[in-house]
Amino acid sequence: MSDQNPLTKILALSNDDPKKIVAVAVALCLVCSVLVSAAAIGLRSKQEANKQLEKQRNILQVAGLLDADTGVDQIFEQRIEQRVVDLATGAFTEAVDVASYDAKVAARDPELSTALSAEEDIASIKRKAKYATIYLVKAAEGGDYETVIVPVHGYGLWSTLYGFLALKPDGDEIVGLQFYEHAETPGLGGEVDNPNWRAKWPGKQLFGDDGDIAIEIVKSGATGEHQVDGLAGATLTSNGVHNLVRYWASENGFGPFLKRLSEELAQHG
Ligand SMILES: Cc1cc2nc3c(=O)[nH]c(=O)nc-3n(C[C@H](O)[C@H](O)[C@H](O)COP(=O)(O)O)c2cc1C
Repeated sequence: MSDQNPLTKILALSNDDPKKIVAVAVALCLVCSVLVSAAAIGLRSKQEANKQLEKQRNILQVAGLLDADTGVDQIFEQRIEQRVVDLATGAFTEAVDVASYDAKVAARDPELSTALSAEEDIASIKRKAKYATIYLVKAAEGGDYETVIVPVHGYGLWSTLYGFLALKPDGDEIVGLQFYEHAETPGLGGEVDNPNWRAKWPGKQLFGDDGDIAIEIVKSGATGEHQVDGLAGATLTSNGVHNLVRYWASENGFGPFLKRLSEELAQHG
């Protein structure tokens, strides 16, 4: 009696038989897809944890707190306090859970975000989340906060740049600007990550004496407290950064929050 097992039947065929070739190819594809899916699922939590650590590393770096001898999570735990700000009022809110709130996800949710008009949308972000997570840097020796870090994003030439703007507690003087995600061209727009360019930001001020937004990226020859030189050969990315910094300093961004900070500092010193 002949063996009816299909597998045995296929294996018994000649290696040149098209049926065997197709069967082996299909079997190989199935095995590989199971392996890739298992790896993707198995590594997902590790990827998320690494993403979170990288974000924390960037937050510490923009505030000048990175220290080769101390772990990122340890410094973050000791020095950073996360709060959620209601962008419309500029006040802290507990309307959403600080641990799980994700402004990127919220910006796609009509209940948690609003569409921007073309006139408002100078950073080309289309929608804005109602709430934003900000980071307060506690002084090492306790007492007042020494830096406030706000998330910023906006379109460059090829991509949306995501980063952090660190400010003194007056909500005006810049401590640093750093991006952790973008797809601008390495060597051109990608020079936003160059430490030499990043070093041009500390000490600059967002607002003029009249309270209006004054920070600007100029093509070259920056002078004074409000101008930063653009990137050579990357005017379009520079324009994107100019627009996004001004957007997040505006009424539609963190304007109301930064105003509160400066008023609080004026009251309490
Ligand atoms: C392949 C390619 C990639 C480019 N990538 C960027 C970029 O990431 N950012 C940017 O501003 N300009 C980029 N440019 C250059 C822009 O097209 C444009 O020439 C430049 O922004 C003008 O800047 P400049 O006035 O400082 O020369 C790229 C050009 C090419 C051909």
